[in-house]
Amino acid sequence: MITLKTEEQIQRIKESNRILGITLAEVAKAIQPGVSTLQLDKIAEQCIRDHGAIPGCLGYEGFPATLCTSVNDVVVHGIPSDKVVLKDGDIITIDTTVLKDGFYGDFAYTFPVGNISAEARKLLTVTKESLYKGIAQAVAGHRLGDVSNAIQVHNESNGYSVLRELAGHGIGREMHEDPQVDNYGMRGNGKKLVPGMVICIEPMVCQGERYVNFDDDGWTVRTADHKLSAHYEHCVVIRKGQAEILSSYDLIKEVLKERFI
Ligand code: MF3
Ligand code: CO
Ligand code: CO
Repeated sequence: MITLKTEEQIQRIKESNRILGITLAEVAKAIQPGVSTLQLDKIAEQCIRDHGAIPGCLGYEGFPATLCTSVNDVVVHGIPSDKVVLKDGDIITIDTTVLKDGFYGDFAYTFPVGNISAEARKLLTVTKESLYKGIAQAVAGHRLGDVSNAIQVHNESNGYSVLRELAGHGIGREMHEDPQVDNYGMRGNGKKLVPGMVICIEPMVCQGERYVNFDDDGWTVRTADHKLSAHYEHCVVIRKGQAEILSSYDLIKEVLKERFI
């Protein structure tokens, strides 16, 4: 069931996403060769708690950390570890959620570590572009398939593939609400978008084929061909005309400066 949000509820989701923007900027400051993903997790947890919010992923269906830290061929749900140490040329997706005043925010960004290859840079650029192409279709009166198709077409026309096993979603009092927001689909298909719907749009894009496997930890999703994968996520509210994006990459941009992709 899709629950439409009031303006007051939308402001709470926005506040949770604001804290996530601050948190990912703090994490961005620490992302460099030699740092472990567990160190990044501790920075994030502290920052979230300092802002009076609760890490939403910690304990969610047994997930053991605040951040999902997904390096290189890991698509999503990588578990922070002192054994995973970043090195020059890696890419790392940080995806996390917080809960504050009863409402969730959910936010992801793929960062370069040091100097990355031109191929990796292109993957990041195209994946992020596809997020905004999806958002551009997220307009009242359109259908979910319009969003999904825009994401799929942009990635596939650049030679990439999109994950089908996982998708975006509604958000609010629950981290994952209806509707499911696929990253592939047909224009004109699916549920109609209505003002007040709040959805997370989150393309998960593979440099090679879209097939994935789970690691033995039951969480880590890895490309079967071990090629790179990228993932960006924004929370948006459907409006008449353009969607309003409730999360922001501005603080990350300030940290990354000319390395911002
Ligand atoms: N943030 C993820 C999403 O975009 C979900 C994280 S799963 C968890 O939907 F177990 F880490 F919470
Ligand atoms: Co997320
Ligand atoms: Co999400």
